[in-house]
Amino acid sequence: MSFKGKNAVVTGGASGIGLQVVKQLLQHGAGKVAVLDIQDNLEEIVSMRLGFPSQSIIVIKMDVANQKGMEATYEEIAKTFGHLDIVVNVAGLFNDQDVQRTILVNLGGMINSTLNALKIMSKDQGGKGGIICNMSSVVGLDPMFLVPVYAATKAGIINFTRCLGKDIFFQRTGVRMITVCPGATITDMFTNFTEKILFPELGDESYRVLDRLHKQSAADVSRCILTALEKEENGAVYIIEGKRLFPMEMKKYWRGLEKELNE
Ligand SMILES: NC(=O)c1ccc[n+]([C@@H]2O[C@H](COP(=O)([O-])OP(=O)(O)OC[C@H]3O[C@@H](n4cnc5c(N)ncnc54)[C@H](O)[C@@H]3O)[C@@H](O)[C@H]2O)c1
Repeated sequence: MSFKGKNAVVTGGASGIGLQVVKQLLQHGAGKVAVLDIQDNLEEIVSMRLGFPSQSIIVIKMDVANQKGMEATYEEIAKTFGHLDIVVNVAGLFNDQDVQRTILVNLGGMINSTLNALKIMSKDQGGKGGIICNMSSVVGLDPMFLVPVYAATKAGIINFTRCLGKDIFFQRTGVRMITVCPGATITDMFTNFTEKILFPELGDESYRVLDRLHKQSAADVSRCILTALEKEENGAVYIIEGKRLFPMEMKKYWRGLEKELNE
């Protein structure tokens, strides 16, 4: 797919990986981009508006966990944009000390945004189809003892997105669904990390683990996300590590589900 003239929403687009996705979509010619975030980071927005004067950037201050607010936000986006082609759901937090909020934002927010986006993108509801990319993590695939609550939300995102990435939905909606799972990335998410882990007694261990992690930049992760979008492979799950994008190997465990129901 080409990004030229496309309309996009990026949740969590005010900082870190999301901000890089916004910038790179604009660099690749996206027509209108909505940044949906709890913070507005106006300095970056002003600088992007100056850098891309013929493209439109709107900022919507919204909590992705707010169900009614998200519904109204997407209705507003539909009115302003006319139609929507791309959604990259990046918004998320790490704070295993706050279990409810982590679930509501990371998993609930991703579901809120996806379902409301589908209402305006789906061909069977008057939309033009498109693609939705949901942000998981490598810890949603492989257990990481330091972050069990965060990891559970990230595992949930993979399965939610894969369910909607089945052909039966695509035939109706024309919307492709993909998941990306980056490894450790240098962003604000690691700030005060040891204060936010579930078991503070593992603090020393967490320093040891953090030091040894191979970390990548948010810009590199974003480049891989754009490559994943370009591939348009419905239902695909990608790992992003060391500037590389590669697909997760799909294996079936549930033998009682008939083949055609699982395609
Ligand atoms: N940094 C990593 O190592 C890493 C690795 C894999 C996946 N991720 C995921 O990438 C995504 C982006 O994280 P990041 O590393 O760029 O961190 P970040 O903290 O820089 O970015 C997160 C963004 O989400 C926004 N946000 C948080 N809660 C929100 C809410 N309730 N509603 C709307 N916006 C909200 C924040 O304001 C921020 O702009 C997250 O989903 C994170 O889980 C991060």
